[in-house]
Amino acid sequence: MRFDVLTIFPGFFSGFLENGILRRALVEGLVEVAVHDLRNFTHDRHRTVDDRPFGGGEGMVLKPQPIAEALASLGIEPKIVRPAATVESSALYQGMTSVMPTSALNEDWALAPAESRPTVILLSAQGRPFTQALARELASRNRVVLICGRYEGVDERINTLYCDMELSIGDYVLSGGELAAAVVIDATMRLLPGVLGNEASSEFESFGAADSDIATEVDGVPRSQHGAGGLLDYPHYTRPAEFAGLQVPAPLLNGDHQAIRRWRREQQLRKTLANRPDLLEQAKRFGALSQKDLEFIERLDTE
Ligand code: ADE
Repeated sequence: MRFDVLTIFPGFFSGFLENGILRRALVEGLVEVAVHDLRNFTHDRHRTVDDRPFGGGEGMVLKPQPIAEALASLGIEPKIVRPAATVESSALYQGMTSVMPTSALNEDWALAPAESRPTVILLSAQGRPFTQALARELASRNRVVLICGRYEGVDERINTLYCDMELSIGDYVLSGGELAAAVVIDATMRLLPGVLGNEASSEFESFGAADSDIATEVDGVPRSQHGAGGLLDYPHYTRPAEFAGLQVPAPLLNGDHQAIRRWRREQQLRKTLANRPDLLEQAKRFGALSQKDLEFIERLDTE
């Protein structure tokens, strides 16, 4: 899988790409990340990437031209194939002057099957929330292009012309899309086959696959209390068994696999109720909780 990142701060990504799981995945050729400096697609002495907003107001807006040229250098044309005669009359373009000659539009690209077509994403605080489900979806694509916004934003025509989705990593405003792009790359690449040492690990953590999707091992030490099934992960402990006067919970020490499963499940429910009651409600609505789970939650509620 390949990521292309368009940014005015390419240096931001060097530390990120040089450590941990991502570094190993890059070395092993499981994932490729190409970072492109938008200033390389400017044509003035000052390598200008931004300009003042039409209509006035605070801040600066990233100009469309360097981004469009950077995308063209990657072979990415506007996504909308517009017959010449209808360009100006299309609802999408009403009130908008055409910015691309129709000859620049590549029909083959627009008609290519979804898997071979790059997915172009604009990172912005106005985007739809980035979730584990979306990370799974992106992990199934061959190529993802991430456009990092800066300043007040990116000229909206880039979104209109090229982007398949606009993504936000949370309800807060970052000073740019670079951190968000790093988050998207990290969460996505670790789901690729072969990236995590233990293929199963990503299934068993918070927001992992539903319980029913995961083959349980009847014999032997349970790899986990099934999948998180939309709940938060349970707490983990390692040696020593006592630290700073705190003992590792007894069910984890006695080798009773059923007891371990039950304890872990209860911890998931407890943590999800405390930190993300919205997820617990969702799990209830989807019928992902057993009768035992529901009884345990009721007990928690009365605690
Ligand atoms: N750019 C600024 N804030 C952002 C956010 N929350 N998510 C993605 N990109 C952003």
